[in-house]
Amino acid sequence: MTPPHEHPVITPTKDGSTTLYSPRFRQHYHNPNGAVAESRHVFFETSGLPDAISRNESLAVFETGFGTGLNLLLLHEYLHQSDKKIRATYYSVEAFPVDAATASQFDFGDNPFLNRSIPALADIFEQLKPGLNTFDISERLTLHLFAGFFDDFFEGDFISEKVDFIFHDPFSPEANPGLWTPEVFKKLASVTNQNTVLSTYCAATSARAAMAVAGWYVARAPGALGKREMTVASLNPLILQSFKRVNEKRLAERYKSADFKIDK
Ligand SMILES: C[S@@+](CC[C@H](N)C(=O)[O-])C[C@H]1O[C@@H](n2cnc3c(N)ncnc32)[C@H](O)[C@@H]1O
Repeated sequence: MTPPHEHPVITPTKDGSTTLYSPRFRQHYHNPNGAVAESRHVFFETSGLPDAISRNESLAVFETGFGTGLNLLLLHEYLHQSDKKIRATYYSVEAFPVDAATASQFDFGDNPFLNRSIPALADIFEQLKPGLNTFDISERLTLHLFAGFFDDFFEGDFISEKVDFIFHDPFSPEANPGLWTPEVFKKLASVTNQNTVLSTYCAATSARAAMAVAGWYVARAPGALGKREMTVASLNPLILQSFKRVNEKRLAERYKSADFKIDK
């Protein structure tokens, strides 16, 4: 069936915040049970990012799929709430940016800080040009947003530092298989330091296996809002000590022998 139109459609979620539905990928950008609640759980609480804010002097994040910009705004909020003078750099890529008019209709539910940031977010979408765009979000937070495809971003060598956290958020392996390959996870590995944590809502065996082929250690974590599991990964197994690891060697062998179908 041909989608009625290509533009994402604003959709309410059960925690009172809005998300988008993508006719192109036929998928919501967030869990319909709660966009803000899911993002907080997967990318912040499970990854340990709030602890890193209290420990470090600087922080860098890479996100696959800027989407609504919600993860950027959540980081902005965590930094704002911290009494530490930490500086953060946020790299993100987005091939299909929403227009400013759509962004100005976002609603982050009962969170006044996020809602107050919506006009600034709409401005970012208004000013966005193809390629790398840099915005100072606050005196502590800089955004480098690449309007274009993930592969072009990595070919352009646009990250000038190693990142501490990777938010891998490009729709599911079924909807967007090209961003769940060992090649993609090798590219992500190239911008890590020894403590980097990659987190994703995805718990698909095939996705974990692709990470394992690329040399990542991989672990299960409790999922958000009724989802049984999500995934965390690192190139340093010590970082995953509090999680239950998968058997990376066996998964990598299965991936190489094409032993499984893509699953969710
Ligand atoms: C699940 S949504 C991201 C949600 C986002 N993190 C948020 O908080 O709203 C996935 C995003 O990845 C983008 N995307 C999909 N494939 C891409 C690619 N190859 N390169 C860059 N962006 C891509 C989509 O347009 C979409 O905005």
